[in-house]
Amino acid sequence: MPSFRAPRGLRDLLPPERQAFARLERLAAELAGRYGYRPIETPLLEQVAVFERGLGEVTDVIEKELFLLQPREEDGERWALRPEPTAGIVRAYIQHGMHTWPQPVKLAMTGPMFRYDRPQAGRYREFRQFDVEVIGDPGPAVDAEIIELAARFYREAGLENVVIQLNSIGDPVCRPAYIEELTAYYRKHARELPPLERARLERNPLRILDSKDPAVAALNAAAPKAIDRLCDACAAHFAGVRAHLHALGVEYELEPRLVRGLDYYTRTAFEVFPAGATGQQSAIGGGGRYDGLVELLGGRPTPGIGFGIGLDRVILALQVAGAATGEEQVPLAVVVGSAPDDTATRLRIATDLRGAGLAARAELGTRKLGKQLEAAARDGAHFAVIVGDELGDGHVQLRDLEAGTQRAVPTAGLARELERASRTHRHGLDAGRDGEA
Ligand code: HAM
Repeated sequence: MPSFRAPRGLRDLLPPERQAFARLERLAAELAGRYGYRPIETPLLEQVAVFERGLGEVTDVIEKELFLLQPREEDGERWALRPEPTAGIVRAYIQHGMHTWPQPVKLAMTGPMFRYDRPQAGRYREFRQFDVEVIGDPGPAVDAEIIELAARFYREAGLENVVIQLNSIGDPVCRPAYIEELTAYYRKHARELPPLERARLERNPLRILDSKDPAVAALNAAAPKAIDRLCDACAAHFAGVRAHLHALGVEYELEPRLVRGLDYYTRTAFEVFPAGATGQQSAIGGGGRYDGLVELLGGRPTPGIGFGIGLDRVILALQVAGAATGEEQVPLAVVVGSAPDDTATRLRIATDLRGAGLAARAELGTRKLGKQLEAAARDGAHFAVIVGDELGDGHVQLRDLEAGTQRAVPTAGLARELERASRTHRHGLDAGRDGEA
């Protein structure tokens, strides 16, 4: 047993897995650009109050899952690792006066989030999200635009069968009466509630609807629904969102029990699952509108909407579906030689190829040529550049490792020749290797 291990629930991403994330990160950045979202990055930690106030104190994330940092001084500021990006991005929007920028401000971020939850399949203490936020547009068209963007991300990532669940959870006009009705309902059934849910009954009954405890599932199924109690403005907004989704051809299911796990949501709420899987653990993304959050964190009243896609779970879902998750880059060529000790020449030739933009590895050990070639094949390299006696008159041998053919090539034109050969090679880079286009 090694003496040290990664902290529980935090994973090392080894090369093949890191490559799968890199592929999704590239797609996220490219899609964000295509839709006009500008990149932002906020710190991995924030003042605890940003999360407490933003996400709501009576939520799982705040009550149980915050990764708190030990202050260095007695009266030091309290910090926590970010459990999600929205509160930090809204804090940045206010801090940097982004309300003076042309509205709406459309932002995208990809990075790790931390929740001190019980680790299990698909639930990690460190996970990665692709997040987008639109601040300053009340919708409903932008609500549909953002849901369509999420749908496209899954499709272009290679996940064909996803289910989008949609709901509207009202706003400060209609929510209070609904909460009262919900509280009355749960009060009637208080004895059936597990301790955590009972404690939340008076403080935040919406969280009971969102409970992970199977004991409350039946109770939740019969609970009053927000969608039936929307005020006229919320109902019109929701009808607008649905009409825009219809016009875009985005399919979704109405899910009246969907409330999301964070308090900042108003009106539109949605969650995405791989087909055939439901339950919070398998959600591969979720989002919604948060029209009160900017004001709650000290800015002027400003509407907002966004989503977060869980990249770890997208990769799991791709694996379950048997879809490609991305390939590691293999060297196009490995430079080997018949004089095992002449590492300098091999390294120089590989360096020149890299300078020309090609992926090349040099054999830097001093094993025999046969072993060097075996290693090149194991690397998955397409070509071996063999340095031998002809180097004296400016030539090396270029061997196609799969075809087993080889010919002499002038060293001066090696990069150009390799580039040309890689284009015609049947497994060459142009053949559309996954994730490398
Ligand atoms: P969320 O639903 O808490 O929303 O998280 C979004 C996604 O992150 C989830 O659907 C899931 O795929 C992934 N996720 C969450 N927790 C874990 C975990 N412990 N392990 C692995 N994956 C996880 C938010 O975070 C909101 N900020 C989304 C949003 C943005 N709403 C408006 N703007």
